[in-house]
Amino acid sequence: MANVLRVAIVDPNDRDREDVKTRLLGIDSVWLEADCSRYEFFRDVVQQTSPDIGVIAIDADPKKAISLIEEVRSTSDCSILCISGSNDGSMILRAMRAGAKEFLTRPITLEDLLGALDRIGGERNGGAAGRQRGCVCVAVAGCSGGVGSTSLAVNLGCALAAEENNTVALVDLDLALGDADVFLDMIPDYTLVDVAQNISRLDFALLKRSMTKHSTGLYLLPRPAQLQDIPVIGIDELRRVLGLLKATFTHVVLDLSKSYGPLDMVALEEAQTVLLVTQLDVPCLRNVVRLLMSFDDVEGLKDKTKIVVNRVGLDAGQIGLKKVQETISREIYWRIPNDYRTMVEVRNNGVSLFERFPKSQITQSIQGLAVALHGDADAVKDDDAVATKEKGAAGVGRWLKMWPSGKSGS
Ligand SMILES: Nc1ncnc2c1ncn2[C@@H]1O[C@H](COP(=O)(O)OP(=O)(O)O)[C@@H](O)[C@H]1O
Ligand SMILES: [Mg+2]
Repeated sequence: MANVLRVAIVDPNDRDREDVKTRLLGIDSVWLEADCSRYEFFRDVVQQTSPDIGVIAIDADPKKAISLIEEVRSTSDCSILCISGSNDGSMILRAMRAGAKEFLTRPITLEDLLGALDRIGGERNGGAAGRQRGCVCVAVAGCSGGVGSTSLAVNLGCALAAEENNTVALVDLDLALGDADVFLDMIPDYTLVDVAQNISRLDFALLKRSMTKHSTGLYLLPRPAQLQDIPVIGIDELRRVLGLLKATFTHVVLDLSKSYGPLDMVALEEAQTVLLVTQLDVPCLRNVVRLLMSFDDVEGLKDKTKIVVNRVGLDAGQIGLKKVQETISREIYWRIPNDYRTMVEVRNNGVSLFERFPKSQITQSIQGLAVALHGDADAVKDDDAVATKEKGAAGVGRWLKMWPSGKSGS
């Protein structure tokens, strides 16, 4: 994964050190270089391992620890994250003056830890704001019920999870009627409500345990079990859950409801890319135009929205793709072929397209979309790149030739 942070930790208190170590080990973007129980040895540890971040717990001997911070700062490029059980202002000031970049007070939540690592990582990588680990957050929205957004969200999640270096979470935001769990044939123990309610106590292991893992590697956070639980999830709760997920997974896929309510709007804002799924009929296209007009009100939303046409080839009465592009004044980013038999079979059996029909056109279409979203979009624009892709990513290039996406129009 890009931008892995190498971390070394020192804390003479074994229990506290183990606690932080466990949390660090659970974060995909952290590589734990070393852990050390003596302040005296830490400078050598830093010199030998050159970590990006030194985590120094100061409570065992604050005086020694503060001079260690100074020493490490003056002899290395390592950024210091300081930990203490005290939130005494003068202690924080001393640590910061000695050169600590961040100061966390026990008990430490995963959220706090990730936030601190993110800020340090951001600064080390040229001060760029936002997630340095480059989480790709994709919202899948539909312009009408039954257009295929859940089918796409689930299978896109599985396609992304197939890549070894990815960790992928799928969140079902259709809080009343969401069925992502059915698509994956899962009976989850916990839902979005449990995570939202316990967010301040969650560590990475608990977060992952709260999310059910599918055989493809995809982690699912399902909708609440009961309608009565829906009000538990407000805008703030959702923002926090998404923040935590974005900080811990390489990809987060959001399956939105069709209500375009406040929670859907939060998801649209938080996403880096919005896939707006439509079919080629008049009611759908009318809604696409209406939605795009409404999206104008949210900064940046229209620009990050990509149109995905689903069920291309469904029947002869479908509106032509060229006409569609003219009507919505927008490029079609991706086209997914119609294949009802295949879709129904995977849905009814609770398996992904990749498990049951790895070679079908629809599978390869969604795989191609995953690759495009992965940042390879440019690479598939010319034939050479397509040929290269065919060697590397099974079948994607072949699919791209059969179902060329977007720009060429048709
Ligand atoms: N490309 C496709 N070809 C054929 N059938 C599809 C396709 N995509 C989705 N479907 C079918 O359409 C129905 C609705 O899909 P779903 O993903 O639940 O839509 P939404 O989440 O937008 O309500 C399902 O029966 C699904 O199997
Ligand atoms: Mg759905």
